[in-house]
Amino acid sequence: MATRRIDKETTSEIVRHFGTRADMLVQILQAIVMRYGWVPEETIRQLADEVNLSRADVFGVVTYYHDFRTEPPGNHIVKVCQAEACQAMGSRALTKHARKALGANLHETNDDVTLEPVYCLGNCACAPAVMIDGKTHGRVNPARFDELVGAMKDSR
Ligand code: FES
Repeated sequence: MATRRIDKETTSEIVRHFGTRADMLVQILQAIVMRYGWVPEETIRQLADEVNLSRADVFGVVTYYHDFRTEPPGNHIVKVCQAEACQAMGSRALTKHARKALGANLHETNDDVTLEPVYCLGNCACAPAVMIDGKTHGRVNPARFDELVGAMKDSR
């Protein structure tokens, strides 16, 4: 599990690991998200200074990719697949159910649970698919979704 505590020296170490290169920004941001779970404003400023880009450049990359959150996530992450095979099997309705059940829209956090879209979990044969805290589940209907989320909350 990623830590949310921001440490400027650790961020600098990550940047140095990638050679302090602007062309490695996406890889640096991936490492930052692995470490902190999100990309805080202060880290965007630090990265811009360290790889010699404007803050707007770094912010533009951060906001382009869904996985680079600018708000801290909850301790639990629920992802509902939005890609074609899952859409054909009802993921839009499942997403609507998930939003209501979790009290959060996509990219939002409520009660320590973050709801995210994902675009194919490699589980298309068992669509619609969801991922809860890194574990993929297939053929998820609303009742199964509620069971899985209930189990997730019981594990707290
Ligand atoms: S389209 Fe949803 S798992 Fe592949």
